[in-house]
Amino acid sequence: MWQGLINKYRDFLPVTEATPIVTLNEGNTPLVYSENLSRIVSAEVYPHAKNFAVGVYLKYEGLNPTGSFKDRGMTMAISKAKEDKSTAVICASTGNTSASASAYAARAGLKSIVLVPEGAVALGKLSQALIHGAVVLQIRGNFDDALNLVKEISAKYPVTLVNSLNPFRIEGQKTGAFEICDQLEEAPHFQLMPVGNAGNITAYWKGYKEYKEKNKINKLPRMLGFQAQGAAPIVRGEIVKNPKTVATAIRIGNPASWKNAEAARDESGGLIDMVSDEEILNAYKMLAAGEGIFVEPASAASVAGLLKLVKNDYFKRDSQDVIGNAKIVCVLTGHGLKDPDRALAIIKKPKIIKPDIKAVLKEIGY
Ligand code: F0G
Repeated sequence: MWQGLINKYRDFLPVTEATPIVTLNEGNTPLVYSENLSRIVSAEVYPHAKNFAVGVYLKYEGLNPTGSFKDRGMTMAISKAKEDKSTAVICASTGNTSASASAYAARAGLKSIVLVPEGAVALGKLSQALIHGAVVLQIRGNFDDALNLVKEISAKYPVTLVNSLNPFRIEGQKTGAFEICDQLEEAPHFQLMPVGNAGNITAYWKGYKEYKEKNKINKLPRMLGFQAQGAAPIVRGEIVKNPKTVATAIRIGNPASWKNAEAARDESGGLIDMVSDEEILNAYKMLAAGEGIFVEPASAASVAGLLKLVKNDYFKRDSQDVIGNAKIVCVLTGHGLKDPDRALAIIKKPKIIKPDIKAVLKEIGY
């Protein structure tokens, strides 16, 4: 039976017999092949190829217990907090970290405190933190303000910080890279992901490097990260004071792991680029209606980025790397049910009709 990622990847993680493992059996998420996206990329890179030259895969992290990749980091952070005899944890969050921290804290019997930006957290995430029993405070400010506060509080008071500044978060999240390699039976050539506070790109790159060191893979992917255009400090090279985007999960103007994200980009020969809200929402709809995969807007930044790079001939320039059977992985970080308001805001509301067979048949075209 799958017993969570610490059990599976114990040899790669800083745990011992003394660590009480707090798990919801997170990890082991599906890596789903996308025929549509494979066709789009292959046709662009190899217009004359008979078969698909490029395979695009979607790592569906929305299927973790609380609906996002944060559970990978949280099983580690909360287990270590418990091992250290901590009684309370604290985080700043755009929503998913708070949902995950409160669930794992509830399981461990720890108090959880979360600070979120007022009015800027998707409904699903807020309801998770509340129902799991966290003390939830809305800050009249943004994520960056909230992060500064929790850093100061955790430095002065006996409460453990569980944002990705906590190194155990990165340790847990690197297992996403391990799983991708295990599932593909090799490393992908390219790996695309959204970038917010930049912990996850840091974690994945660490994971790939460790797997290569242990000879589990024989190459490293290029790391391709995507920020939202209105919240793209790394791309612009400066702090964004008032970040704005429909992708509230990555509405961050001063990422904590900024330098590590740049290192992942540079060491891997990748890039960090930005995508507009329009591109994000197009990819969001395409994934839901074309693939049957419902993600939250921030997660669609991976696929929006893929489509942007295809348009810019990025993969053509790189065609040496993609000859034959190149593999591209887009990480889909969170579930669409986290933010149902967004779906309802951009799709036409269902019609209301009489409970009458004729009326129904007329509408459905029979
Ligand atoms: N995708 C989703 C769904 C997220 O919730 C986040 C971050 C990211 C991508 C970006 O990951 O921060 O490691 O670069 N959410 C954090 C939170 C900030 O508070 O839930 P990152």
